[in-house]
Amino acid sequence: QIVPVVLCGGSGTRLWPRSRAKKPKPFLPLVGDTTLFEATLLRCPAAGGFGAPIVVTGKGHLAHVEAQLGHASDEATIIVEPTGRNTAAAIALAALRLPEDAVMLVCPSDHHIGDADAFAQAACTAAELAQEGWLVSFGIEATAPETGFGYLKRGEAIGDKGYRTAQFVEKPDLERAKQFLSEGIYAWNGGIFAFRVGDFLKELETHRPAILEAVRKSVENGRTEGLRFHPHPDAFAAVESESVDYAVMENTQRAAMVPADMGWSDIGNWQALHAARERDDNGNVVRGYVELVDCCNVLVDSDGPRVSVIGLEDVYVVVDGNDIMITTATGAQKVGKLLGAVNQ
Ligand code: GDD
Ligand code: MG
Repeated sequence: QIVPVVLCGGSGTRLWPRSRAKKPKPFLPLVGDTTLFEATLLRCPAAGGFGAPIVVTGKGHLAHVEAQLGHASDEATIIVEPTGRNTAAAIALAALRLPEDAVMLVCPSDHHIGDADAFAQAACTAAELAQEGWLVSFGIEATAPETGFGYLKRGEAIGDKGYRTAQFVEKPDLERAKQFLSEGIYAWNGGIFAFRVGDFLKELETHRPAILEAVRKSVENGRTEGLRFHPHPDAFAAVESESVDYAVMENTQRAAMVPADMGWSDIGNWQALHAARERDDNGNVVRGYVELVDCCNVLVDSDGPRVSVIGLEDVYVVVDGNDIMITTATGAQKVGKLLGAVNQ
């Protein structure tokens, strides 16, 4: 059985002013009518063979998670982190609550997948490889020298299921990212993983024994409350904060990848969101009370005031309460540095 382990943490300042610390990216209906978190849960049963999900989230996001569980509300387990300790610890929490031979499908809730069927297919293949003892990543075709992603170097084929990951490099600098792109055998890491529980714990024990030990303590002294599990706050606070990419994936000898062409976007900024949303014939995307005249590739998203725009190209306008943010496509990378985004 495949157990979806859905991760939601983080803040998402690059989509300010819509995304805010109190209501970050996973809990917003950014692309269609469903939020990224809801869409993540919905994708899994659609694929068949999935058990009840485990959601790992911070105390501050619990209310959003509970409000958006939908069909999974009677069956999903929620592990409530007292403080964020990044993804190695978050995944370990779920692993320590599962039988060793279960396969976890680790799903971040901060990206959009356009083709649910392609995802389901890749997930099944990844689960098969995980059963065979591989630590599996989903490989997304790299189309730009992004420095915010992990890179997977394609190694030898494993039957017709996927490839060994010859090298896993988390967040390379721009020069290396360009180099990887030009070599043509690197894919982006989609951030979705399939692990057999026992294998993941063994690898974590080999490469980061202190993280495993500390998380184990927080679980042993934790508290169950219906479908909620609360790791012990002091014990969990002592866990070192590191992502699974650095802690395990860069170090394991058992890394594999399944190429997945599934309309994946991490929606890292307003430009990416413009690309992921449905556009009209002029490439425009509007939400709310908006009038556009002679515009192309413009995104306007207003939660209240009417916004009227004439004669602009490649501009994004977002209105949220008292905040108005206007940027070009190039400027979209810098939104997270605005005072409003930093001091929200
Ligand atoms: N529960 C919990 N607790 N979830 C967390 C925590 C935490 O402490 N930290 C992060 N998450 C969640 C985020 O909400 C997100 O859904 C997922 O885990 C991944 O974390 P990010 O912080 O968004 O990672 P990233 O985007 O920098 O990098 C990862 O994703 C890229 C693809 O989007 C890496 O796996 C990269 O290699 C990958 O390319
Ligand atoms: Mg992310």
